[in-house]
Amino acid sequence: MKNILVTGGSGFIGSNFIRFLLSESSFNGRVVNVDKLTYAGNQENLTGLEEEFPGRYAFEKKDICDKENMRTIFEKYDFDAVCHFAAESHVDRSIVDPDAFIMTNIIGTYMLLEEVRRKKDTRPVHFHHVSTDEVYGSLGENGFFTETTPYRPNSPYSASKASSDHLVRAYGKTYGLSVTTSNCSNNYGPYQFPEKLIPLIIENALCENPLPVYGDGKNIRDWLYVTDHCRAVWMIMQHGKRGGMYNIGGQCEKENIEVVKTICDRLDDMRPLASGKSRQELITFVKDRPGHDRRYAIDFTKLKNELGWTPKESFDTGIEKTIKWYLDHKDWVERVKSGEYRSWIKQQYGD
Ligand code: NAD
Ligand code: DAU
Repeated sequence: MKNILVTGGSGFIGSNFIRFLLSESSFNGRVVNVDKLTYAGNQENLTGLEEEFPGRYAFEKKDICDKENMRTIFEKYDFDAVCHFAAESHVDRSIVDPDAFIMTNIIGTYMLLEEVRRKKDTRPVHFHHVSTDEVYGSLGENGFFTETTPYRPNSPYSASKASSDHLVRAYGKTYGLSVTTSNCSNNYGPYQFPEKLIPLIIENALCENPLPVYGDGKNIRDWLYVTDHCRAVWMIMQHGKRGGMYNIGGQCEKENIEVVKTICDRLDDMRPLASGKSRQELITFVKDRPGHDRRYAIDFTKLKNELGWTPKESFDTGIEKTIKWYLDHKDWVERVKSGEYRSWIKQQYGD
């Protein structure tokens, strides 16, 4: 693969993926990043790449739902592959206002698949679809999600992602397109928008604001450091079975309350409060998220056995790196939180 379209490359995982491709992987071709730059997308996440990798990185500010624009992009660049990250990604927002989720996650994926279909006979393009473990719904106390677990999405976000997964599968089966899909658990690391649990708690704990924990705090997520996800996606794109689905996870189940307490304790060590108090005192239990999935846990045996992937980062080392990154990038946090995010918070919760 020499010429890759990355959608949503200015967001959290997409920007980490582009950096990984250009600096840490075997890839020596060109990446074209197509991103609409919603509240979650920041060009700043990729500053300096054009200069650092001359001729190997290009940016196009475009909406993947725009058919004409997608046609132009596919004509302008001679892609061998698409890695599709672009999405509305935050569950709470999907509950308040699902519209953009249906548009981008379903219609946007359809528009891209149509372009790949149009090129099928003249210029075959591989399509990798980045999806989520949330399509499987919620687990009880035992068991894991495998690639054969039935889909049971519970939020507008996960239902829109499930729908896009089905479109990808259908285009593979019906039109014979070369497709792969990955379903990953919760990511954390640099450049994550501070509305998601880990960066939100870091930011609030630093500012001595309340730390909101939904419900009883015992919901479980399976945490994966973002670079491990990027490495898995790249392996699947290159070597995954065509038409295949792969689960990706961190083998790192944690209750939310444990994650929050860990961040408090690490910050107390790195930046003790002048009062000498523990940041755990800021923890505030709040009303639960509607339809809140209780537990996610991934079985990634297929990815391990077929492609030899396992996570490299432990939660201890990953959370340390992440907290340090946010401490060193307070100006980034301030900038991404300004504007649209502030007005959304105000609209939902008042001043
Ligand atoms: P993000 O919200 O940080 O970034 C999404 C990016 O997509 C942004 O840059 C945004 O501007 C862009 N975008 C949104 N709508 C667009 C449109 N219509 N046209 C073009 N660009 C558009 O999301 P993320 O957390 O980096 O997630 C990336 C992908 O990975 C998503 O598909 C998500 O479902 C999936 N995923 C995320 C996680 C996680 O823990 N964050 C886990 C598993 C899977
Ligand atoms: O599992 C993969 C998914 O992980 C991705 O597909 C989504 O794009 C990504 O946003 C993430 O979804 P979650 O809903 O699990 O992530 P979030 O960070 O919003 O919440 C993590 C857990 O923390 C969840 O159980 C809800 C809880 N939570 C979240 C927030 C924002 C709180 O208790 N308090 C909060 O303020």
